[in-house]
Amino acid sequence: MKKFIIAAAVSALSVTGFAQVKVSVHETAKDQPVIPAEIYGQFSEHLGRCIYDGIWVGKDSSIPNIDGYRKDLVKALQDLKVPVLRWPGGCFADEYHWMEGIGPVEQRTKVLNSNWGGTIEDNSFGTHEFLNLCELINTQPYISGNVGSGTVEELAKWVEYMTADKGTMAELRAKNGRKEPWKVKYLGIGNESWGCGGNMTPEYYSDLFRRYAVYCREYNGNELYKVASGSSEDDYDWTRTLMQKATGKEMDGLSLHFYTVKGWNGSKGPALNFTLEEYKNTLGRAYRIDQIVKNHAAIMDIYDPKKTVGLLLDEWGTWFDVEPGTNPGHLYQQNTMRDALVAGMSLNLFHAHTDRLKMANIAQIVNVLQSMILTQGSEMILTPSYHVFRMYNVHQDATYVPTVYSTEFTTAPTGDIYPEISISASKSDAYHISLVNTSLTKEQTVEIAFDELKPASVTGEILRGDGKDGKVSIQAYNDFGGKGDTVKPVAMKNIKVSNGKISLTLPTASVVVLEVK
Ligand code: AHR
Repeated sequence: MKKFIIAAAVSALSVTGFAQVKVSVHETAKDQPVIPAEIYGQFSEHLGRCIYDGIWVGKDSSIPNIDGYRKDLVKALQDLKVPVLRWPGGCFADEYHWMEGIGPVEQRTKVLNSNWGGTIEDNSFGTHEFLNLCELINTQPYISGNVGSGTVEELAKWVEYMTADKGTMAELRAKNGRKEPWKVKYLGIGNESWGCGGNMTPEYYSDLFRRYAVYCREYNGNELYKVASGSSEDDYDWTRTLMQKATGKEMDGLSLHFYTVKGWNGSKGPALNFTLEEYKNTLGRAYRIDQIVKNHAAIMDIYDPKKTVGLLLDEWGTWFDVEPGTNPGHLYQQNTMRDALVAGMSLNLFHAHTDRLKMANIAQIVNVLQSMILTQGSEMILTPSYHVFRMYNVHQDATYVPTVYSTEFTTAPTGDIYPEISISASKSDAYHISLVNTSLTKEQTVEIAFDELKPASVTGEILRGDGKDGKVSIQAYNDFGGKGDTVKPVAMKNIKVSNGKISLTLPTASVVVLEVK
């Protein structure tokens, strides 16, 4: 069986063709939105080795750490520029009782993590450890509150504990080592309340949201952005009901979850050694998010034409079978150039929807699903997805610049389609253009012209699998044991500027970010 999979896996393919793409960059277009940095958000859950091993090794660990946080990871996250980090779940959030994770570590409750593999959760990473991490890596916390198995009082008190400057909760916080309140803006009121978060109907949940929202107070000048638990994929009825019943009732944001996953039953396909069909199905499935966001946004427009409620895609990314030999409940998967192309194409799409889409949180930051980082003992590797997020972070808080180009579309065996080329641009101190070539066989000759700008200098970075023998490997990934740099960005060569136009060749299966001045 194993032999068959290896034989069927798509390996390095030769370039068999090329296409020409003309890109018009409309830098003179007026009133363009800013791309919220939060589109580059991350998600961390008490799931598998995300928190323990991944982020937190404890102060007494032999692994180099800063007050218990892995030192190598802290540096990698600082370089990445993480604008917002969601915690403690996911499904875990609706069974999390925050009081069990404060105070002296030896007195904290040990509970079964019944959502994720039945692992013992010793609560050694709790509110203080999370919020201090956010300060360390300069990120905004996004707290996901327990509605499914908690109470209004419990969540209200948590908000008070984190943000109030006086009263019993503030005193308890000070006793536990933190006098100053933290700043917490994003507050999720439940997670997947249609499923693991309580199996509710949208009508029932809307009422609960309204009730919880009232008692989650703003203390000490801390402004909350309250996020209602949203729908999964194309459940438009959930969005419609929430918009009908909770708009104007303290709902600042409504979430949405969309995973690039083949199905909940049976195999989701391997993260490594996948077939050509699986490659195409993955890209096709990922591209569905474009229409799904448009459809949710259209419903939201009916009830909220002024766009006061944000759509927050607070879980997205690839979801494959776990790596052989690992706990099926820990969702540990490797990460290849296929994941990098999904990331690059998706981020380009998100930029175009920021009139409504205000945040996106890839699942998850370390050791779970489409991770930025993988750890094994004292070793840490950056995944191809990390490199895309790092290359693209120039778009954070930059002004969106419309681009016009045409592309062929590939039809996957599932019938889903995806573009061969995906491009997005923004302006900050310079112009940045991100380009993705999803074709495994066609190079793209790209010519870029601005409305008025005549580029004086153009530099760039490219990410792709190793190009041995002129071939590219979509299967390429970084691994432990000295193979952590198999896939990493390098300077883009042969960018030409002539008559005010930029030209370059976009190799097969590559992600490129250009800086234009
Ligand atoms: O990210 C893994 C899980 O996927 C989350 O806990 C849950 O919200 C979703 O179903």
